[in-house]
Amino acid sequence: MLDDKDRIFTNVYGFQDWGIDAAIKRGDWDDTKALMARGQDAIIDEIKASGLRGRGGAGFPTGMKWSFMPKESKDGRPSFLVINADESEPGSCKDREIIRHDPHKLIEGALIAGYAMRARAAYIYIRGEFIREAETLFAAVAQAYDRGFLGKNAAGSGYDFDVFVHRGAGAYICGEETAMIESLEGKKGQPRLKPPFPAGAGLYGCPTTVNNVESITVGPTILRRGASWFTQFGRDNNKGTKLFQISGHVNKPCVVEDAMSVPFRELIEKHAGGIRGGWDNLLAVIPGGSSVPLVPAAEIIDAPMDFDGLRALGSGLGTAAVIVMDKSTDIVRAISRLSYFYKHESCGQCTPCREGTGWMWRVMERLRTGEADISEIDMLQEVTKQVEGHTICALGDAAAWPIQGLIRHFRPEIERRINVRRGSDLAVAAE
Ligand SMILES: Cc1cc2nc3c(=O)[nH]c(=O)nc-3n(C[C@H](O)[C@H](O)[C@H](O)COP(=O)(O)O)c2cc1C
Ligand code: SF4
Repeated sequence: MLDDKDRIFTNVYGFQDWGIDAAIKRGDWDDTKALMARGQDAIIDEIKASGLRGRGGAGFPTGMKWSFMPKESKDGRPSFLVINADESEPGSCKDREIIRHDPHKLIEGALIAGYAMRARAAYIYIRGEFIREAETLFAAVAQAYDRGFLGKNAAGSGYDFDVFVHRGAGAYICGEETAMIESLEGKKGQPRLKPPFPAGAGLYGCPTTVNNVESITVGPTILRRGASWFTQFGRDNNKGTKLFQISGHVNKPCVVEDAMSVPFRELIEKHAGGIRGGWDNLLAVIPGGSSVPLVPAAEIIDAPMDFDGLRALGSGLGTAAVIVMDKSTDIVRAISRLSYFYKHESCGQCTPCREGTGWMWRVMERLRTGEADISEIDMLQEVTKQVEGHTICALGDAAAWPIQGLIRHFRPEIERRINVRRGSDLAVAAE
């Protein structure tokens, strides 16, 4: 288990004050100027060496992403950092804890990352429903300006940097990076076609990098302690510490920082008080937020909780939102409910997603009640394949994958329901 001394998030439970004086006592804003004096390329190199992969779901290497930004503006356009605090994926609840209990760690991270990628400002796009969190963030940003950590000559570095907080209006799709950029520009939050990629033309047509809150927040600690400290944790290609969000049928649901690659059983035993009703009662786990395929109990128990370990099981680490389901779960109903979520959140731009999400949900409901025909299982599988990879953004994939996981691992249960229903229909007909 991760030692307390190796935790990046020392106030994730809010036992101490979030304000700037308490944050400084915890080590935030400690000679930020010296970190910046190392130079932009040195900061990016250190983040690259740390192996940090994006914490927003896709796991793209963070240092490499920063290095895509232009080193100088040839046409006078400024560059921007956009910080993704939309956190709307069912099961995910870590960025919210960072913002309400450790906002200065995020704001210092914004300055460091923004400086490294030569950005003029950072925009933190926060989910509309996070009302108290947004209040805290606005207040924390104001504190940072008051102390001279932001604005002109930020932290005495000679670099000018602003941080703006922008509240969303409650649409899941605005978490997708290009939809977020559209929304920040005051337009309807609908994803853009790529290319152009944001690093070339993003916010207001300027070079932009979008990063998750956690990816940005861990930056200053990595620089202070060094990349080799960060790489002690986790397997190759899966380095560092990570905030896991454990929900569902465990005895003590929690958000906890642990080393990447921690085995599932250890994670649950040490932090979440074990599975409700014991390990034999575990049915399946959605390990990375609702968009990744579920993994049945037997396959996940000893699996390393990291990007590659979960991909090898046909699933993914995603945001590390671990949704645990015991044997009392109606698994078909659970996945059908997720299908409804994706249908509801589709922005409607592309036909396979707009029509497919509704179609998939309606068939899922027929499977849930057992009214469907057995042949519809394969038909549904086929439709998920027609949606997956055929849309502008990954919401189409996110809608397809949970269903694919269900069919892969729980086909007998789906068939059983259909047979039970058919049996009772026949009995009624015979009466
Ligand atoms: C439908 C959809 C919703 C998303 N929602 C979020 C979100 O709430 N938070 C987030 O950080 N990334 C979200 N992403 C991923 C972002 O597009 C982007 O990849 C991420 O913010 C990059 O940050 P990272 O490189 O630090 O991981 C979403 C992607 C899709 C397709
Ligand atoms: S995949 Fe869905 S959410 Fe994404 S752009 Fe297309 S319609 Fe919109």
